[in-house]
Amino acid sequence: MATYLITGATGGIGEAICRRLAPLHSLILVARDQAKLDALALTLGGSHHAWATDMGQDGAIDAFTARMESEQVTLDGVVLMPPQPHADDNPMPTPDVWRHLFQVSFIGPLALLKGAVARMNPDPAEGRRAKIVIISGISSAQVLSHYATANVIRTAWVGEAKTLAFALGSRGIHVNTLSLGGTLSPWYRDKLEERAQKNGISFQAQLTIETDNVPLRKYGEPAEVAIVVEGLLSQFSDHMTGLNILHDGGFTRAY
Ligand SMILES: NC(=O)c1ccc[n+]([C@@H]2O[C@H](COP(=O)([O-])OP(=O)(O)OC[C@H]3O[C@@H](n4cnc5c(N)ncnc54)[C@H](OP(=O)(O)O)[C@@H]3O)[C@@H](O)[C@H]2O)c1
Repeated sequence: MATYLITGATGGIGEAICRRLAPLHSLILVARDQAKLDALALTLGGSHHAWATDMGQDGAIDAFTARMESEQVTLDGVVLMPPQPHADDNPMPTPDVWRHLFQVSFIGPLALLKGAVARMNPDPAEGRRAKIVIISGISSAQVLSHYATANVIRTAWVGEAKTLAFALGSRGIHVNTLSLGGTLSPWYRDKLEERAQKNGISFQAQLTIETDNVPLRKYGEPAEVAIVVEGLLSQFSDHMTGLNILHDGGFTRAY
């Protein structure tokens, strides 16, 4: 049984990942809402921890790191979902917007990751490796005009992941980024439903229109993301690090 830290655990994608991993592994679930985390942990069964933490707050991250230390947690992997504002299409927001964004979406999650790496104890000679999967979005690989700030934050994460892959590889710690295209978590479905109603058409008709330029003609499902994450945490990735893997039905055309 491995121990994994999952951030964004109560979100659409995080919950699917938890449900996939929970039967075989011990999980530390992180998000801000303790009640939601407790409810999730209850439905997962088994011996999981629900530790509410705001990744935008330095003090909360320090407390989380201290808690991992005092409870002598040893981590085999981390699934890091840096919080992302869902849409900000202003390419030049004010410095305060950038400060807030970087704190919540980059500096805070990176501090939490640093604390998590300190709790890893891999030994490649013994076949024990530790895996970090950073959930990003396809604007890490291309410009999406309505994701102006996300383009920057996600590209920063791909750069950081590459740097960490080089720095931590010799210890047997792997760092890969999974960049998602449209994925039908509840909030994404709600937005799609809103657009369908505005256009006076069904959810399915709206989905068909929106995925017309996706080679597989569909958006991803959280459960599909969970299968890939499980693979990246497993022996499947024992010779893979520093990758930015696109999970977008073929939408991104670059190669
Ligand atoms: N769905 C998509 O189409 C899509 C596409 C590309 C990339 N992604 C990326 O995939 C990740 C997950 O997406 P999702 O659809 O599952 O989003 P979601 O349903 O909105 O879930 C977000 C999760 O992050 C937690 N969270 C938010 N702010 C936090 C903070 N400051 N500190 C700690 N936890 C925080 C939320 O719980 P609390 O509110 O209780 O804290 C929740 O568990 C995100 O990073 C997103 O950018 C998603």
